[in-house]
Amino acid sequence: MEQRLDDISICENEKAVGKAAAKMIAQQIQQKPDSVLLLPTGRTPLDMYAYLVEMVNAGQVDLSRIATFNLDEFYGLPQDHPGTFRSYMQRVFFSQVQVPAERVHFLDSNAADPAAECDGYEQKIRERGGIDLAILGIGVNGHIGFNEPGSAFDSRTRLVPIREETRAANAFLFNDHLDKVPTHALTTGIGTILDAKKILLLATGRSKANAIHEMIHGDINPELPASALRMHSHVTVLLDSFAAPESQETGNRLVPQPGGD
Ligand code: PGA
Repeated sequence: MEQRLDDISICENEKAVGKAAAKMIAQQIQQKPDSVLLLPTGRTPLDMYAYLVEMVNAGQVDLSRIATFNLDEFYGLPQDHPGTFRSYMQRVFFSQVQVPAERVHFLDSNAADPAAECDGYEQKIRERGGIDLAILGIGVNGHIGFNEPGSAFDSRTRLVPIREETRAANAFLFNDHLDKVPTHALTTGIGTILDAKKILLLATGRSKANAIHEMIHGDINPELPASALRMHSHVTVLLDSFAAPESQETGNRLVPQPGGD
């Protein structure tokens, strides 16, 4: 069992985090053109998707053989509601690149039988040969996907309640109407995420510094879901300087990386 996260880079700023993440994804696809990706939503990966679109348009990466699964989805909304992660992905990525539709997978925000939907999702991931690269953000409370504090490390894709602080963080997708943010979500589990061959976690902004500090230095504990990543041997963490914790007390030096090309 790994106890440390060794591959931690501090980038110059938020845009540099996005660019470094896009490059890592491109490298993954160059090495394995039929890579299976687990994709995040939220504010953090917006630059990553924008740079990836640029790289695709510049002919540097070919997405025609990849398969994608989204990390999570709100539950209880029509699929085409602008607040769903399916709609987000369409807006920021899939409308601008060519990925064959049959290779793009989402959890159904409107599934009549959520348990069957979640089991089917796990099955599809297995049929594609498993996740090669899981890309994650992190919540202020340390969640990954919608695996809120207390989620079991061996949890699989399932229906979960969303915590109030997480609903508030997602209100931007609902014109800042907190009452419109769903109370439940479907999420891949921590076990599903840990099965990925490689994991890339991105965090930007001061609000994430505490969760990042706990992930790196705190106990490995379901109360901080991201601490589960310390049990995985291929995790890369990309931070901007605001999200990077002060860590003199442990002597664990985080080395700033050049953010440019
Ligand atoms: P954010 O969300 O990128 O909007 O901060 C990250 C998360 O909650 O996982």
